[in-house]
Amino acid sequence: MTDPLRRLSPVVRLAPAKLNLTLAVTARRDDGYHTLHSVFVPLTLADRLSLAPVGGHRDTLHVTGLDAGPPADNLVLRALAAARAAVGGSWPGGPGPAPALAARLDKRIPVAAGLAGGSSDAAATVDGALEAWGAELDADARLAVAARLGSDVPFFLAGGPALVEGRGEQVSPLRGLGGSPGILLVTPVIAVPTPDVFAAFDAIRSHGDGAVRMSSAHLAEELRSGLSAANLVARAGVLASANDLLPATALVVPALVPFKRALSRLLQRPIGLSGSGPTLWALYPSEADAAIGADIVRAAMQGGGLTAPGSSEPFICAAAIVGHSQQESEP
Ligand code: C5P
Repeated sequence: MTDPLRRLSPVVRLAPAKLNLTLAVTARRDDGYHTLHSVFVPLTLADRLSLAPVGGHRDTLHVTGLDAGPPADNLVLRALAAARAAVGGSWPGGPGPAPALAARLDKRIPVAAGLAGGSSDAAATVDGALEAWGAELDADARLAVAARLGSDVPFFLAGGPALVEGRGEQVSPLRGLGGSPGILLVTPVIAVPTPDVFAAFDAIRSHGDGAVRMSSAHLAEELRSGLSAANLVARAGVLASANDLLPATALVVPALVPFKRALSRLLQRPIGLSGSGPTLWALYPSEADAAIGADIVRAAMQGGGLTAPGSSEPFICAAAIVGHSQQESEP
């Protein structure tokens, strides 16, 4: 009898960060979660994940790069267990459970930053594990596994810009952008727990006032028919204020407000907040332009003209928005 592991090869996946170009909170659900209307875009900033079939019964995870906390708490291990449970005995070596995998994660997206790095790792894990095992799950089953792992996980199954609604499980791919606008990310090293931000949101109002919802619907419509990178950058001012969580995040971390203002003055650009933060962003025509912005921020910090809140230097990174679905291309 042939060993099923012999037929299995390691798989490698890129797990991109996401940015919310808009984020409207439309209602509070009975289960405490909130319904959203949000345009999500993937970024070129990405974690790297490899999954190799191994003998034995225990999945393992080795993390390099940025600090991601204890591997035992990592969503990658939960995603492997969830994918295995969903596959059951229906993989080529079945009817037993799919074999253990050794995961390696090179962490390049800062953790708990509003960039959904952990959620992206989880989606890449589910997708990569299915390939490593030679197993199939239909789209509904994949979506169910992803949604159970976290609200942001389903988006990453789409592979490109998307309108995200419901708790995060309703993902409508958008045609996207002509070109790849640059994005400067500045992530202060301050804890902004997402549940705290939503709790602050509930405390100050029951739901958004509708203006952000309108901006979000408008952008989704534009991206549905296709928008040039230049036209997206021209909308930076509207997008930077199109986040219903801004006042709530400002309550949880008041120090973010003067820092955001100082960045806007320094760069002469609108500055937005991704998700519940603390990552701040500025849009540029290209990644090269965003890199110039990154240099300006670093120089101002070194020269003492700009002080970031947080226990250490912020994460500063120039990247680009992935304007189109990557579904057809190799990672
Ligand atoms: O689903 P996930 O674990 O990523 O959500 C983290 C927290 O964010 C939830 O506990 C909830 O407080 C809040 N959340 C929410 N509504 C959403 C997504 C997240 O209230 N749609």
